[in-house]
Amino acid sequence: MSSTVAKDHRADRSPCAHPTAEQVSPAPARRAAEGTDRGRGDHQRASPPDTRSAYGEDPRAVDADVTHAVRTVLGDLLDQHLAAAEAVDPLFGEDLAARVAGFTRSGGGLGRSRLVWWALRACGGAEPWRTRAALRIGAALELIQTCALVHDDVMDGARLRRGRPSLHVDVAAQYAGACGARRGGRLGEAAAILAGDLALAWADDVVADVADTEMPRPTARRVRDLWSALRTEMVAGQYLDVQGEATSARSPARAIRAARLKSARYSVERPLALGAALADAGPAATRALCSAGGCVGLAFQLRDDLLDAFGDPHDTGKPAGGDIRTGKPTYLAAVAQVRADASGDRRAQDLLRDILGRPEASDAELAAVREVFVSTGARATVEEKIRRLVGQGLRHLDTAALEPEPTRQLRRLLRSASGLAPDTAPVSRSVPTAGEGAGR
Ligand code: IPE
Ligand code: MG
Ligand code: MG
Ligand code: MG
Repeated sequence: MSSTVAKDHRADRSPCAHPTAEQVSPAPARRAAEGTDRGRGDHQRASPPDTRSAYGEDPRAVDADVTHAVRTVLGDLLDQHLAAAEAVDPLFGEDLAARVAGFTRSGGGLGRSRLVWWALRACGGAEPWRTRAALRIGAALELIQTCALVHDDVMDGARLRRGRPSLHVDVAAQYAGACGARRGGRLGEAAAILAGDLALAWADDVVADVADTEMPRPTARRVRDLWSALRTEMVAGQYLDVQGEATSARSPARAIRAARLKSARYSVERPLALGAALADAGPAATRALCSAGGCVGLAFQLRDDLLDAFGDPHDTGKPAGGDIRTGKPTYLAAVAQVRADASGDRRAQDLLRDILGRPEASDAELAAVREVFVSTGARATVEEKIRRLVGQGLRHLDTAALEPEPTRQLRRLLRSASGLAPDTAPVSRSVPTAGEGAGR
């Protein structure tokens, strides 16, 4: 293993910190929906769903089926936003808001919201307001995921998501007949930018509402700070990713940094931190959860990179080899490059130089790069790193006095998020099957 790669492993041990003042942007303002110049001032503002009756009183009802509970809260929220959007403008409602709602509903795993829930429960959170707040913060995370993926597919030029045309492709196809392929394509991308913005606005609304209405002030402050941090980190990571693609800046250290920021934080580490914050957990429990989330979150993105190269689109719902075609500066590609350079493997060096970042790469060329990922040992290195990160992450959970059963659920979720099989039989319907957590 090269020294550059070995150095990255040390970075994995750094504990997760609370967001610093520099990471925290001002709390999002509560947005009131406004009429447009098409003139409807009489719509209702989307108000937060009333989860009191369904889940507010008994957290054990949520324990029994977290997915169902989140889906219920999310469904109510989306229904209200859709009604408000329709009232603002029917075309906007149908073309954009309905797509945002449909996409958000189609996210089967709800991994982020389940992490929030089980982190809350692992820290002993059980009061009705904490239950309601955790479910709504979970719903906000599902919405920010919609924003991230809809924008990501435009940036990555990805035509397939969750086994269906990605949002920009779908809009382009709808309008291709009426305005031609080129204009339809541009409209699709513009619509996806707006759809992502809309999802983010809805997510911010939920967080602002829940912080204002459900929480004591110190808890609300912590939650808002974490929310601000995760949004900024995700954008920062996405920028490192596309900037690295454009400039062919590819190194293992940089790949790890981008993976942490674009994915590990908002997908795993921050959801666990949010659950801890909602429980008003102490420093030891918070640190244990954040450290676990940092390790497993990185493993989650490394698995995603492996699946992009070696997975089957029928399983992943995403195009195969997209990262090779865009020249994404993944850890997998960076390790292959370092190994090829270190051993002077000219054939591998030429293939990586010529094919990574070639949008029109043929299937045979994709296969040749995959072969380099294997022959340089990069694939095996990434697999091993995932296993090590997950082991390390789960050990962090032993460092604090957490509630045993919720922590068992967390362990299962975290293993699944990194594409490793759960080690024991499922104990509730909210536990994902192996691999489910590894998709998006
Ligand atoms: C995207 O990373 C991360 C975010 C959406 C913030 P990828 O580009 O690797 O994600 P996939 O593979 O398209 O799902
Ligand atoms: Mg992508
Ligand atoms: Mg991307
Ligand atoms: Mg990917």
